[in-house]
Amino acid sequence: MKIDWPQLRAAAVDVAGRAYAPYSRLRVGAAGLTGDGQVVVGCNVENASFGVTLCAECGLVSALHATPSRSPDHGSSGSGAGTGRRLVAVAVVAGDGDPLLPCGRCRQLLLEAGGPELLVDTASGPVPLAELLPAAFGGADLSARRDSGAAAPS
Ligand code: THU
Repeated sequence: MKIDWPQLRAAAVDVAGRAYAPYSRLRVGAAGLTGDGQVVVGCNVENASFGVTLCAECGLVSALHATPSRSPDHGSSGSGAGTGRRLVAVAVVAGDGDPLLPCGRCRQLLLEAGGPELLVDTASGPVPLAELLPAAFGGADLSARRDSGAAAPS
């Protein structure tokens, strides 16, 4: 599928302008292209309780799941079982308009939303997420390694 990187970067710059970052004063905007051709965006949202700050990519991934697909193939209600749309390309920028590499937590979040082949924009061009998050932990590790028959704590 053709990825319009200038459009994706522009969407990230635009949403960075709506970031709520009064504490760090580092605005971040993230824009992602879905497999069915939609652009979803997110910005960072800070809080006086610093630890609850949301990165821009968190908002982007939430928007990915929250925004109904316009494609008839993907349905619009979602099953809630992780069968939602996938990201194919992501641009993250700071308020200065230049690419910002996602933090470690957001790389993990993006992995589940787009897989290791997800293209992430960098200062030297798009790279697969696998390059930014090698040897990643994922859902397959959960199913392979958890205790069998373990009960949830009451
Ligand atoms: N931030 C993001 O939004 N995404 C990242 O990948 C790195 C950091 C935000 C969080 C916080 O609001 C500000 O940048 C400074 O850490």
